Amino acid sequence: MSNNFYDKVAKKFGGYHTPSRHTTEYPNDDPEKIFKEKLLELSSKDKKALDVGCADGRFTLSIALYFKKITAIDVSEEMLKSAKKLQEEQKVTNVIFEKQDAFHTAYDDSSFDLIYNRRGPDNYPESYRLLKPGCFLIQIDIGEKDCQEIKQVFGRGQGFCEWDNSKLEKDRKALTEVGFEVVYAKDFFYAEYYPTYEDLDLFLQGVPIFEDFDSKKDKRLLEVYVTRFKTEKGIKFPRHRVVILAQK
Ligand SMILES: C[S@@+](CC[C@H](N)C(=O)[O-])C[C@H]1O[C@@H](n2cnc3c(N)ncnc32)[C@H](O)[C@@H]1O
Repeated sequence: MSNNFYDKVAKKFGGYHTPSRHTTEYPNDDPEKIFKEKLLELSSKDKKALDVGCADGRFTLSIALYFKKITAIDVSEEMLKSAKKLQEEQKVTNVIFEKQDAFHTAYDDSSFDLIYNRRGPDNYPESYRLLKPGCFLIQIDIGEKDCQEIKQVFGRGQGFCEWDNSKLEKDRKALTEVGFEVVYAKDFFYAEYYPTYEDLDLFLQGVPIFEDFDSKKDKRLLEVYVTRFKTEKGIKFPRHRVVILAQK
């Protein structure tokens, strides 16, 4: 994934978010809620946490009060700029945003009591090195079936045609290989509903589902998708997330 993409998004929208509207329906459970619950269960005011791929730091800052300190890393300078701006506005003092490549950081072995990763890069060997023994890595990641339908209409996209390669099993194997014990791993399927074509178009401009998404060039394809997936609840947009908890 090019870092350039995240720099562009941060420049255009002032962070990692767009003002597009949607509602969400969870037939089972909300993976973000489960991820956050598990993360906060592991939090404490004497722990130092690492946030891998923090983007604009919105989430980092929202949980800062549960930790002694959070080190939040990213490679996108524009995202880090947005994060630092938000930090100043919110006057949060126990977070440090740093430009670091998640695969090769400058931190010592066993520097952290907890590592979390909210759709950041899968840097398992480095996370293992950075964690203290007995401590946890928790992550929420994008599943292989995420937005499969729109990618099929477009004939491209992040993880295109990977639908049958379980991300959960791939991650479980990779984590185990570096020495982690996977203590929780679950797939979550749910759907977002965008009220209008414009909301979906705006959403797609700010996420890497199609890094090359172009509102003008992709208009015809998006119209095909919208016609096919229009429901009385809005334009259906199926999502897939994987939540994993692993112990060193
Ligand atoms: C989907 S966003 C993460 C969103 C963020 N964690 C949140 O909670 O909103 C992925 C982020 O990972 C960052 N990233 C990609 N490769 C990286 C690397 N090798 N090291 C550090 N950050 C990286 C990107 O710049 C981007 O900001």
